[in-house]
Amino acid sequence: MADKDLNDLFLDTLKDIYFAEKQIYKNLPKMAKAAASNQLRAAFEKHHGETEVQIERLEQIFELLGKPARGKTCDAIQGILEEGKEIMDEYEGTSALDAGLLAAAQAVEHYEISRYGTLKSWAGKLGMKDAVRLLDQTLSEEKKTDDALTKLAGSEVNAEAA
Ligand SMILES: [Fe+2]
Ligand SMILES: [Fe+2]
Repeated sequence: MADKDLNDLFLDTLKDIYFAEKQIYKNLPKMAKAAASNQLRAAFEKHHGETEVQIERLEQIFELLGKPARGKTCDAIQGILEEGKEIMDEYEGTSALDAGLLAAAQAVEHYEISRYGTLKSWAGKLGMKDAVRLLDQTLSEEKKTDDALTKLAGSEVNAEAA
């Protein structure tokens, strides 16, 4: 225990986000199906495709480390996705559903941005240039997704809910 280092922490956190991305990948089609707004549905569908590539990038990083790609249960993402499910159930058929879906999706993006920002910084400290590049590609996709959701939240989706 005492001699765990940043390499171990990097690998553990990589497993955490790998688990999280797989859960997100499973969940996005459900959110797309639930969305009333065409724009919101399209945003979820687009990010579903991006998430598939993000999972592949993580697998490339496991390969760089010479470790098997394996997830580790991430309680945080399970909680965030569980809250999203509650909103889908409790607001089904209401005018506030999309606003709730947007908020749930942004909580997911913020979690991912936090994790990828940390992993990128640690990869830099560990001198893993290829990993930095891969993590940065995903980090910017997550930020773009978050921005797109913010724009949607400011436009029709919340106008409909009001
Ligand atoms: Fe992601
Ligand atoms: Fe994401």
